[in-house]
Amino acid sequence: MRIRKAVFPVAGLGTRFLPATKASAKEMLPVVDKPLIQYAVKEAIAAGAEEMVFITSHAKNSIMDHFDRDYELEAALEAKGKQELLDAVHDVLPPGISCVYIRQPEQLGLGHAINCALPAVGDQDFAVILADDLIAGSFQPCMAQMHRVYQEYGSSVLAVQRVPWEETHKYGIVESEQIGPGLSEIRGIVEKPKTEEAPSNLAVVGRYILTPRIFRLIDRTKPGAGNEIQLTDAIEALMGEQTVLAYEFEGTRYDCGSKFGYLKANVEMGLQHPEIGDEFRDYLRGLTDSWLTTPDQKIG
Ligand code: G1P
Repeated sequence: MRIRKAVFPVAGLGTRFLPATKASAKEMLPVVDKPLIQYAVKEAIAAGAEEMVFITSHAKNSIMDHFDRDYELEAALEAKGKQELLDAVHDVLPPGISCVYIRQPEQLGLGHAINCALPAVGDQDFAVILADDLIAGSFQPCMAQMHRVYQEYGSSVLAVQRVPWEETHKYGIVESEQIGPGLSEIRGIVEKPKTEEAPSNLAVVGRYILTPRIFRLIDRTKPGAGNEIQLTDAIEALMGEQTVLAYEFEGTRYDCGSKFGYLKANVEMGLQHPEIGDEFRDYLRGLTDSWLTTPDQKIG
């Protein structure tokens, strides 16, 4: 039992990053030196996926270009003997990995986006990664951890983490029964509940392993929170028919759909970067002494 296909819904407008995302996809925003979507694809490959299915919209050509070969660039780097850069360019899409692009004609919600993947996914279990949830800092990438759980239990798995109660309105929130360390079986799931209505503070982050039954259930799903066809609501229906597990992954999640989360990802991953990490650390230390202690004077 293996997951071969990973779906990346990338058709969103990225309004929180305008004007940066006016002509370019939000998934192409770089964290240090790689776009968010490349981290997501790498994570899917590390979990064994071989076919990347992107659900796109008209303004997302930069994603297609990114995963395409650029022979002119490669020839130029080769002529200049820039082997490291050439390797970095080749690393974008390793051999044996293929990409499929499907247009989402209208943006009717995450559930609708996933349903657009049906022609590429067919009747296989599959992974979903939301690229703006960047997960790093663990021995094994998040989707590979989930894949281990999937192989052991043979059922759908959602990545979850505890969030502050006052933030439940930003997430799908699960009600679940613990079956092992960091692992529970979902009994209920609700999209973006108010704190007082949330069944717990265990939130779904952008990683799912799903069975193809979900497609039929999305078909039957009526618009929910935000008047969108929610994946969460289809998962609630799935849970009535099959086991759905919630897995508390190891690692740090950065909400790169928000400016603050995106900046944190850049700072923390910059600190770990082999090329600039040390220099950046010294720079930040210097900032603590000047900028951070007298921010008003500096900014004003
Ligand atoms: C989506 C899902 C939500 C999940 C979240 C994780 O919401 O609908 O259930 O908790 O991703 O990032 P979005 O952030 O797209 O509004």
